[in-house]
Amino acid sequence: MTRVLRGNIVSAPELGRLDVTEHGYLVLEDDGRIAGVFDRLPERYAAAPCTDYGDALVMQSFADMHLHAPQYPMLGMGMDLPLLDWLNTYAFPTEARFADPDYARRIYRRLASDLITNGTTRVCMFSSLHTEATWILMEELERAGVTGCVGKVNMDRNALPGVLEETTEQSVRETLRWLEGCRFAHVKPILTPRFTPSCTDELMGRLGQIAAERGLCVQSHLSESRPEMAWVRQLHPDCERYWETYDKFGLWKDRTVMAHCVYSDAEERAAMRRSNVLAVHCADSNVNICSGVCPVRQLLREGNWVALGSDIAGGAQLPMYKVVTAAIRASKIRRIMDGEAADFLTVEEAYYLGTTAGHRYFGAGAGFAPGDKLHAIVLDDGDFPESAGPLSVRERFERAVYMAHRHNIIAVWSEGRCVVGGEN
Ligand code: GUN
Ligand code: FE
Repeated sequence: MTRVLRGNIVSAPELGRLDVTEHGYLVLEDDGRIAGVFDRLPERYAAAPCTDYGDALVMQSFADMHLHAPQYPMLGMGMDLPLLDWLNTYAFPTEARFADPDYARRIYRRLASDLITNGTTRVCMFSSLHTEATWILMEELERAGVTGCVGKVNMDRNALPGVLEETTEQSVRETLRWLEGCRFAHVKPILTPRFTPSCTDELMGRLGQIAAERGLCVQSHLSESRPEMAWVRQLHPDCERYWETYDKFGLWKDRTVMAHCVYSDAEERAAMRRSNVLAVHCADSNVNICSGVCPVRQLLREGNWVALGSDIAGGAQLPMYKVVTAAIRASKIRRIMDGEAADFLTVEEAYYLGTTAGHRYFGAGAGFAPGDKLHAIVLDDGDFPESAGPLSVRERFERAVYMAHRHNIIAVWSEGRCVVGGEN
């Protein structure tokens, strides 16, 4: 049945552009696809049932393009060490707990609920190396209405002996077994070599083969911190740059997702553009575990594809509206560090990176594009402090991005279905 949503409709179809339709109408076809956004309801839809969200904002939902589900139990903790020590001391022992399916079920059910109620409807996510826990994660996301990609992590070296480890053969065998069991409608598998120091050449080669044979995408980490990069140079003396260590094994290809890219130089950035690699900027994590400040403006200026990630639990903020404002702050820090030479991100730009830029990965068009399944949040800012004067919808949007809490999100639509908040 065709239906109509009414409210102040806000979307970011391109970098720096915000489309606002005050007291507008968003029309959905019966399969949850967007028919269009209108300032006056076309006559042909006059008889369709209407959900009136009053003065609330109907905005695009978010896409979190990099996070680690099995690090959710350590959210907001253990950020007193830089990346490589942080992995061994905190992250790996925490991930080891996911050998227990009951524990995984409990943690992942809560994570999926926290994602969807905060308005994140698409993700590109790391699981742990455990096959069962990874299926459980996918199941819980699907049940909650979170869509996207999840990867069983591969790590056959430099892990924690006796705690969190797999052999090369186990890693390959379990990856194939995991892929066989992935039968979810909206949550798809993605190959996930953790990062170059975690994977032997043999494993990387096998994963490259599997990616080619099965047409699977790949996600990993790239140029996140200086000590990590020095380690990668030692491990691959034949590679001039970090990206080549993935390329060598067929893992650097169309729609490969690379988190961080803090220290990617001009050559590495060009390699991303050539292969249509997505760079995922994780501003909060980069500061928390002392990695650096990504020159996100430069990536954008050069035409790189950039989206945002919470990078839980290097990042400590799951809600993407927090991740969006963290990206704005990081870009301003970068500007200060670079002698005021670079522009910072505007709210419209950062919101675009947290929405359309990520949704594109899954084949979505720009903003609320006709033909796309609806991914939206409805945000009620009615309890925000009174402003000095009447605010435009654009001003209310800015305040919503900076000040939203979970309770302000009164409805969430994912894949054309209302998954939070009922339909009235
Ligand atoms: N590099 C390899 N593994 C990780 C991880 O779990 N988090 C972050 N931030 N970087 C990584
Ligand atoms: Fe990460």
